[in-house]
Order: sequence, then structure tokens, then C-alpha cells
Amino acid sequence: MRHLISPLDFTVEEIQKLLDLARDIEKNRSKYAHVCDGKKLATLFFEPSTRTRLSFESAMLSLGGSVLGVSSASSSSAAKGESVADTIRMISCYSDIVAMRHPKEGSAFVAAQKAGIPFINAGDGGHQHPTQTLTDLLTIYSLKGTLENMTIGLCGDLKFGRTVHSLIHAMVRYPGIKFVLISPPELRVPDYIREDVLDAHNIEYRELTNLEDAMAELDILYMTRIQRERFFNEEEYLRMKDYYVLDTDKMKLAKEDTFILHPLPRVNEISTEVDDDPRAAYFKQAQYGVYVRMALIMTLLELEVE
Ligand code: NCD
Repeated sequence: MRHLISPLDFTVEEIQKLLDLARDIEKNRSKYAHVCDGKKLATLFFEPSTRTRLSFESAMLSLGGSVLGVSSASSSSAAKGESVADTIRMISCYSDIVAMRHPKEGSAFVAAQKAGIPFINAGDGGHQHPTQTLTDLLTIYSLKGTLENMTIGLCGDLKFGRTVHSLIHAMVRYPGIKFVLISPPELRVPDYIREDVLDAHNIEYRELTNLEDAMAELDILYMTRIQRERFFNEEEYLRMKDYYVLDTDKMKLAKEDTFILHPLPRVNEISTEVDDDPRAAYFKQAQYGVYVRMALIMTLLELEVE
């Protein structure tokens, strides 16, 4: 039985297969409409979510399956003190596959050990968010036709942003990838990512605080939200929250084929005036999230369509 805890749980070849499946799903929706008939997906969300939970639900419904779940810690037995391990054991009796989001780093690993069904990490604290990464990979692959030889700018909260951590882990496996890491000094990528992932793979990267200085060289600009809920004090957050605002003036500095991604939700870091720019790909990215989750559910349940 397979789980998805980190993007590295799939090899580059397996990821390519998954992306190809997602692209076929995009083109032939009806072909996949009954692949999960009779199957159930449980969504356990102990932290707020709109896109991830609903895109999982939409994915399962589009495959003909059904969904059940909890959308907050306070409305589940977690509020009574039940452990993640017990919740997962129990949920394994009620469904065929489970996606869980939890505020604690490492909770996904613990849960997967106890799961009697395929387990998907839908975000564990500031650690990893592998299904967002699959979404990001599908978006980049669809827009650029490749995942190789490009310069990716990651901008915003690189310390607490789990989408950034997962994306770096995944992208260093492709040849010719360079990163420009743009953040306030206080929100730089954690040392374990710089040393164990970037340096360990001999990846070329620069760290900057100024977004304008990077714009002209980027093929992809991945904007992120300052992660308010992970700050220890509100003052620090308020000082950082409007550090970056991508607007039409800054877009003028970018190349014609520099695509803007964002895992969403956006707060102030991308001005709404950018939404009409053809290079703004973040809503398209949310749509890709459904196709890639459909492909993931099929892969983990070992289901195929002729
Ligand atoms: C991200 C997350 O939850 O980490 N959102 C998402 O899943 N699309 C990004 C964020 O919350 O900033």
C-alpha cells in the first residue's frame, strides 16, 4: 500500500506518469467519470482549508466516488483529545483513501504508519504539502512544456511556507533548475532546506530581499502569503505582511513568458490588477489541482482506465 507524505515518495518517472495521467484527465473528463464508483475518500482537515479540501472532494466526485470528512479540529473528536493515530485507524474502517491536513509537522508521518488505507498528506504544519507540489508541477509542465532548465523565483514567506519547502524538494531532481529565493531576512528558507536539499544537490541559487532585482531573470515566479498563523507574535507579522506586493509596474520588468504562480489564498502579495495579465496563472493552477488529485487518487488506489 502506498502513501503520499512527501513529494519524494514518488520517483521522477512516477511523477511524470502522474502528470501525463492528469493531462489525459483534463482532455477526456468523461472517460474517468466512473473509475471510483463505490469508493470513498475521507478528508480530515484539522486546519483551515478551502482549495485543498474542496479540490480533493471535487476530484473524488469527478471520478464517480463519494466523500466524507471533517473540516475543523473543533468539530471532531480531536477536540476530545483523540490522537491522530486513533483517528486514522478508525477512519480506515470507513473509507478507501484518506487526505489529512494537520497543524503539527510530522503528523502525516505518524498517521501514515497507522493508516490501513492509502494516506495523503494535505499539509502538515510548516513542513510539507506534496499535493500542492504536484499541482505546481502540473502547472509548470503544462505552461512550459518541461520541468527542466529554468529559473524559479520563490517569493514571500520561505521560512514557514510548506508549499515552498515541498516544491524545492521536488524541483531539485530536474536538470538545469536554478532558484532565486526572495524573502525578508527573517523569513529565509530554513537551514535544513538550504543545506540538506539545495547544497546537497549542488543547486545554483541566490537569496535576495528585493523582488524587482530578480524579475527580469525568472521563468516562473512563485508568490506566497506571509503565514500569519505560524508567527509567534502578531507585531512581527504586521511588520512583514505587506513586504511584497506584485503589481503591474513590477510585471513590466518580467519576461513575456514569466508565469506567476501562487498556491492561494492570496492576501496582499499580488495586486488584483495583475489577475488580467496573461502571465497570471494562479487560478488556472487551482484548476490543475483537481486534475492532479484525480490522477493521484487513481494511482494510490491502483485504478486504471482502458
Ligand atoms: C497553502 C497551504 O495551505 O499551505 N494553501 C493551499 O493549500 N493552497 C498556502 C497557504 O496557505 O498560504
